[in-house]
Amino acid sequence: MQQTRVLTGITTSGTPHLGNYVGAIRPAVASSLRADVEGFYFLADYHSLIKVQDPARVQRSTLEIAATWLACGLQPDKVWFYRQSDVPETAELNWLLTCVAGKGVLNRAHAYKASVDKNREAGEDDDAGISAGLFMYPVLMAADILLFNAHKVPVGRDQVQHIEMARDFAQRFNHLYGGTAGGDHFVLPEAAIEEQVATLPGLDGRKMSKSYDNTIPLFCPRVELKKLIYSIVTDSLAPGDPKDADTSNVFQLYQAFADAGETASMRQAFADGISWGDAKNALFERIDAEIAPLREQYDVLMARPAEIEAILRDGASRLRTTLAGPRLVALREAVGLRGLAHVDTTDAVLDTAKAALPVFKQYRETDGRFYFKLAEGERVLLQSGGFDSPRDAGQEIAALRRDGYDTTDTTITLGEGVIADEVHAALTALADADARKAAQKQANAG
Ligand code: TRP
Repeated sequence: MQQTRVLTGITTSGTPHLGNYVGAIRPAVASSLRADVEGFYFLADYHSLIKVQDPARVQRSTLEIAATWLACGLQPDKVWFYRQSDVPETAELNWLLTCVAGKGVLNRAHAYKASVDKNREAGEDDDAGISAGLFMYPVLMAADILLFNAHKVPVGRDQVQHIEMARDFAQRFNHLYGGTAGGDHFVLPEAAIEEQVATLPGLDGRKMSKSYDNTIPLFCPRVELKKLIYSIVTDSLAPGDPKDADTSNVFQLYQAFADAGETASMRQAFADGISWGDAKNALFERIDAEIAPLREQYDVLMARPAEIEAILRDGASRLRTTLAGPRLVALREAVGLRGLAHVDTTDAVLDTAKAALPVFKQYRETDGRFYFKLAEGERVLLQSGGFDSPRDAGQEIAALRRDGYDTTDTTITLGEGVIADEVHAALTALADADARKAAQKQANAG
């Protein structure tokens, strides 16, 4: 079966809360049980260093998050479960990608821009207090994803831009370093945005988030869970007053844990004027019913950190042998970090010629149609109109390469300031390179 590779990373900078559970952990564990998915679940501890400079907290969070995944049903013999820093190939790929990543692209990252904006508001220097780690965050994340050629990355909306950047770096790398016999070096990953999973409100009604300090820890003891749920902010409607379920954070939390029938009854209870005390008690009991068995597991695991350590090490070690290690061998070769025993000089000459060659780039626009352009470096020589399928676009490219550019063809337009002669020259250069390649192949075979 063709499996889809799905990859999820959690930064080890805090204690998992109910929002993480509903928004990420629960759906991820459910999808890990599917036969058509090859799952990658890792503790992004390299990433945590960007935010947390307290070593004990990094370690503690790593333990808590690992125990959480296991307690919630992740099966380390069925999925890849590992700690990022146990796979140092990640750090090496991070550098290879750093060297193709556009600095301008990173300048536009939301997280970085938000920090700059804050500095400006405070009248500080733009980059005051901003580490290069924060700036490079998207590249490290791309390394996590591209190392395993993940197809899908489930993320919240705030992370979508990072996936787009990973695609961008992958494309640049593929373009610069050509493909392998099996195809491109990197698969272009896609963000899988979980539309229907709820973002939970926190204690104060804003989105539950560490940065608002309004979270309910997933595995706090039962008494504390009760206390926190009772502290959820509500309005001052009295018992007996009908309450609007749709604007209530108590109701939203309830819904995230209840089935359709329970949710419908609770909606009715709100209309009938259930008191906030009773509603919160029902919410507490409903959440605890789901969490209690997991909490029991969690407490057992937290008492045996050496076992968790062994599980993580085993995952990383198998992953390095079967996937990460061989990948880096191929990638090092691709970029020229090569042994010196065999130096192919003809190849080197061909590669230089290739680097300067024009290229056809195919892509899809937000209108859903397929386009291509012929580019030489940053300069666009030709721009196509939209095609219904990538195949149609491909056929047009093939025709161009075979028959040359027909200036009367209105489906293709010249780039700004480009004259037809440049296009003719570019196509000729491509044809020459093809001919040289074919000759080289024959020479090698002979
Ligand atoms: N940036 C993610 C977060 O803050 C964590 C993360 C690191 C990640 N590397 C990743 C997520 C790779 C998905 C894929 O939540």
